[in-house]
Amino acid sequence: MSLTMQLLFFVLLPVAFRLPPGSQAGEIIGGREAQPHSRPYMAYLSLWRGHKSSFCGGFLVSENFVLTAAHCNGDIITVRLGTHNLRNWEYNEQRIPVCRSIPHPQYNKVTLNNDIMLLQLGHKARLNGYVRRIPLPLPHQRMRPGTVCSVAGWGRTSAHNQLSSDTLRETDVVVMPDAACPRDPDGIYRNYNASTMMCVGDPEKGKSSFRGDSGGPLVCQGRAQGIVSWGSEDGTPPAVYTRVSTYIPWIRATMRRLQP
Ligand SMILES: *[C@@H]1O[C@H](CO)[C@@H](O)[C@H](O)[C@H]1NC(C)=O
Repeated sequence: MSLTMQLLFFVLLPVAFRLPPGSQAGEIIGGREAQPHSRPYMAYLSLWRGHKSSFCGGFLVSENFVLTAAHCNGDIITVRLGTHNLRNWEYNEQRIPVCRSIPHPQYNKVTLNNDIMLLQLGHKARLNGYVRRIPLPLPHQRMRPGTVCSVAGWGRTSAHNQLSSDTLRETDVVVMPDAACPRDPDGIYRNYNASTMMCVGDPEKGKSSFRGDSGGPLVCQGRAQGIVSWGSEDGTPPAVYTRVSTYIPWIRATMRRLQP
């Protein structure tokens, strides 16, 4: 990623994350470099909003749809699939323009409720060993607190520097009970909604259990159970993820409606 891209990315942050007082783009701090192409569903999204550029994570759920966070919406979005190191245009990489973005109709950019968006690709992705779909959860399936999941992204690698990672990084995170994101009126989790959001990341583990890029998947037992959405300013866990299982009927109906 070029320096210019990074600077633009950070200029955009206040727009991307309106939730006071915290909430900035996700990041993998700690964690490790992912084995190249071990997560073939991962998508890297380059976004333009007006003249500002930014990026997000996402994941492939069908040949021509990527799922991400609604706060990752932009005027122009391009999806990169089958990539590991962003600096290279790897031979297995597919770059596909997004032809239509469908944020959830009840997405609320103040509370970040219903922070989910489908992106329809301009053409189908070629599925192969580097580009594959990830299964969605069952409708209304809930992960028990204590379940260990993983999250991956190309976001920042430290709270103290603004460098993002060229290579995909990943880390394990644990599902917390809803009570770990308490809705105190003055607290950072005041907009937490247990039916549409998941509380993830053990505070005891401190900064080693971090968030992925916004829009990236929380993978539990092989399914995309969550979408990286928001959290505290300094990245202290737990972070809040969109609860994908709540949206299965909307996802299925939307993909069916837009199928050519
Ligand atoms: C949680 O979100 C759902 C879906 O938007 C909404 O119907 C419900 O009222 C919300 N609950 C709270 C407590 O805000």
